[in-house]
This record gives sequence, structure tokens and C-alpha cells, in this order.
Amino acid sequence: TTKTQVAIDGPASAGKSTIAKIIAAQMGYIYVDTGAMYRAITLAAMQANLIQVGQTAVDETSISNLLANVQISFAPSEQGQLVFLNQVDVTEDIRQANVNSLVSVIAAIPAVRTELVERQRQLAATSSVIMDGRDIGTTVLPNAQVKIFLVASVAERGQRRFAENQAKGIDTDLTLDEIKESIARRDYLDSRREVSPLKQADDAVLVDTTGLSIDQVVAKITDLIKQKI
Ligand code: C5P
Repeated sequence: TTKTQVAIDGPASAGKSTIAKIIAAQMGYIYVDTGAMYRAITLAAMQANLIQVGQTAVDETSISNLLANVQISFAPSEQGQLVFLNQVDVTEDIRQANVNSLVSVIAAIPAVRTELVERQRQLAATSSVIMDGRDIGTTVLPNAQVKIFLVASVAERGQRRFAENQAKGIDTDLTLDEIKESIARRDYLDSRREVSPLKQADDAVLVDTTGLSIDQVVAKITDLIKQKI
């Protein structure tokens, strides 16, 4: 039997991981959270004092050398998925505001992308997969049978992220406006970088989730998958 590949791309906080986790569980696919990989290398660079909040330029060679010794792995958990950086659980650390503010700088480094894309393809090689990110349909899995570009208004994405942060106790001091600004800034940087920017693949289906429930989005994407497999 052939392996199915589902690519979900889109801007920050559009609900990609929420939807992908549910579909992975329903369809028996593995879920690969590529954003978590960029977040983990960002955290590793912060820990090695190679970047700090406010910095927009970095020593790319040091960061790519660091990456050679950075192991990133995932393990299933009740709340979804745990993320490990060199065997240390960083699931919560990689969602903090300082990582949010730096990850797009690290993700723009060509050598970082080459290495992580290679690791992402390896993860997809063994099993049917649903992978979310910014460049999955355009670069990582160009032959994916199903490609979704998931969007929602900045207002709605900000509100969702604000509610999620309050519920999980992450960055609870941030106002709704600060969260909206951080989301818009990340989209700006991710769309304008040189190497595989955030972009809808020509053969991706645009799904606007503004005003839709999680169940409605899952149903829509499940239908699209079932048409293709
Ligand atoms: O998906 P998430 O919001 O966790 O991604 C965090 C950041 O990682 C993005 O803002 C982007 O800079 C980077 N990223 C990327 N390519 C991917 C996934 C994430 O550049 N495939």
C-alpha cells in the first residue's frame, strides 16, 4: 500500500496543529510538527547564547554547527505530543514569547532549513504522515497527495491564541493586542524570507477557518483526504 502524505501550511496560529493532531489520530497517520523543530533549534541557540531577544541578525555558521549536535524528537502524550531537545522535555519552553519572537530569524537561515527539511523527509519516509508548517506543500513534501493552506483572520487567530494561552497558563501577561502583533510580525518575516517562504502551493486547497469550529474544519479536511486516497 502506498503511503499518504498530507501537508498543512499556513500562517501562525491558524489551527494547523490542532487539526493535524485530530486527523492523525483518526486516520492512523504520524503527525510531524515542523514548527516545533524550528522552535527547538531556536531554544538551543538561546541556551548557547548565540541569539537573544531583540536580535535580528545572527552568526549563521555557529547556528548550523550547533544544529549538528541538536537532537529533536517527539513522543505521544495525553495532551498531544511532547517535544524533546537532546532528551530534555522542552514542550512548554518552546511555546514561550521569547522563542516566538526569535524563531523566524532562525528559520530564515538557509543551512538550518536544509538540515531540518532533510530530517522532516526522513520522518515521513516510514509511514503515512500529516505534517504542518510553512513550506511542506512547496518544499518538504512536494508530491503530497493532499495539500491544505489553512488561514483565518488575524483578529480570530489572536483571539484563539489569547484564549489558549490563558487556558494553558503560557505568557498570561500578554494582552490580546500584543499577541496579534506577534502573530502578524511572524507572518511578515516568514512570508518575506529568501528560502522557502510561507506561501500557498499552486496545488493546495485554501481553507479559511474564520468562524468555523474545529469539528467543521476537521470534517472539511477529512473529506478532501478521502477524495484523494
Ligand atoms: O508552526 P509554528 O508556529 O510553531 O512555527 C514556528 C515558526 O517556525 C514559524 O513562525 C516559522 O518561522 C518557522 N517554521 C518554518 N517552516 C516550517 C515550520 C515553521 O519556517 N515548516
